[in-house]
Amino acid sequence: MTLVVGQTKVAGVKIIRHIAEMQATATALKRAGRRLALVPTMGALHAGHATLIRRARACDAATVVSIYVNPTQFGPQEDFNRYPRDIEADAALCAGESVDIIFAPLDAEMYAGNAASTWVEETALAKRLEGERRPGHFRGVCTVVAKLFNIVQPDIAAFGQKDFQQLAVITRMVRDLGYPIEILPVPIVREADDLALSSRNRYLNPTERAQATILWQALSAAQKLFATGEHRAAPLQASLLRTLQLVPAIRLDYAEIVSAATLEPVTDVQTGAVALLAVYLGQTRLIDNAIF
Ligand code: PAF
Repeated sequence: MTLVVGQTKVAGVKIIRHIAEMQATATALKRAGRRLALVPTMGALHAGHATLIRRARACDAATVVSIYVNPTQFGPQEDFNRYPRDIEADAALCAGESVDIIFAPLDAEMYAGNAASTWVEETALAKRLEGERRPGHFRGVCTVVAKLFNIVQPDIAAFGQKDFQQLAVITRMVRDLGYPIEILPVPIVREADDLALSSRNRYLNPTERAQATILWQALSAAQKLFATGEHRAAPLQASLLRTLQLVPAIRLDYAEIVSAATLEPVTDVQTGAVALLAVYLGQTRLIDNAIF
């Protein structure tokens, strides 16, 4: 369903489309003594987002869900055009979770002609892994999240641990730029067969969907090996690769074991280190991770 400018409610939830109106609403809520919790999303909401919303609501704050497919975080060959957009279904999920406001800004206000001349860029945690494979991705993410923070003025913002590097980069950006915002990390939500929930899972055909469970199998096999006392990164990484190879259709992008603080590879794996995976199944790129 297309969202009509001027529409004030979708599925019973208040929807704000203009930056000035969102800023004025946030200011009024704060003057009235309300705290604000933001859940930034690109829509195509699923049970993982519902968990983010519940965690935000538990902070006793007015909950704002932003829905904006941010063009600047997609590379030229990526899925910006086919990214699922269904505001009616998203609003229904928000209504079910008692969201106070959906902020669905217009491209024309967020960026003039999909461009920006002022960028926000984190340069340490963002440079490897996703940042290396998807040049410009985190610059787009940081820029749009900074804009959302300035517009919505949240006290709290919830981000999923599924995008582990994104969470680290945003946490660092908040610290470096002095945003008075508490970042709420929310654990990964998985399907019954342990596939991590993602809006991109809907691209998978039934065969690929069945094959995708190999990501968690690889991560949990490495976690089990770690629990037996194997703390060297090389055998743990070899275990990840061995399991992924059980599905020949998988094209590996990366399988790394890194420090959660620096996102640099480790040789000795301590508790708290993280295994990060990125693979292709057909045209679909999937990421997942597990903390040791
Ligand atoms: O994780 C996402 O959905 C996006 O990267 C975010 C944080 C909403 C920025 O566009």
